[in-house]
Amino acid sequence: MNNIKACIFDLDGVIVDTAKYHYLAWKRLANELGFDFDENDNERLKGVSRMDSLEILLEIGNKNFNDETKKELAVKKNSWYVEYISKMTEDEILPGVKEFLTLLRNCGIKISLGSVSKNSMRILNSINLTSYFDAIIDGTKITNAKPDPEVFLKGAKELDVDPKNCVVFEDAAAGIEAAINAGMYCIGVGSPEILHRANKVIGSFVNKDLSVLEF
Ligand code: BG6
Ligand code: MG
Repeated sequence: MNNIKACIFDLDGVIVDTAKYHYLAWKRLANELGFDFDENDNERLKGVSRMDSLEILLEIGNKNFNDETKKELAVKKNSWYVEYISKMTEDEILPGVKEFLTLLRNCGIKISLGSVSKNSMRILNSINLTSYFDAIIDGTKITNAKPDPEVFLKGAKELDVDPKNCVVFEDAAAGIEAAINAGMYCIGVGSPEILHRANKVIGSFVNKDLSVLEF
């Protein structure tokens, strides 16, 4: 029997479905640069940092720019993305998430955010979920993106919980690898084909209780 003391949640794709807004903004940039970008391509960007995502996008479009232009393109994409997410409300919290966070809190299990997004605070505030987290580690606090374990290890440290007593919830293959690299249990949220390296995979948080934390 394992002894889980903390749960670490990725944000995009686990708590909210922001992948659709990232997709719309990257597609708009691709179209402006003269090529198309589809939802299959978008799968490659999940869990990947903003600048690494831009590199993948430019590789798909076979485009090359200097560093200064790349920075401008990333700023442009982000301004469109922020425009989309600024309209988000509590209604966009994925089904069962709030109930599951409440259950964890009531049972004394600590909760951290572990996201590479620099927009995490903006999103958590607009969906009114900030107060549920004992620690928030986001893209502004880390130097290495997933699959590096930094984002999860920092969360465990801030919560003062040993990594082997932590569970990570993730929707991206890069995030599952980061959890494995951190020495934590991991639960994939989404499709078993993509998340097969996780200890288990769930479709959603609907009706989930503490038995999901048994491995
Ligand atoms: C991750 C998303 O959570 O955050 C990626 O899955 C995104 O798609 C990354 O690129 C960085 O997000 P942001 O908000 O800092 O551009
Ligand atoms: Mg994600």
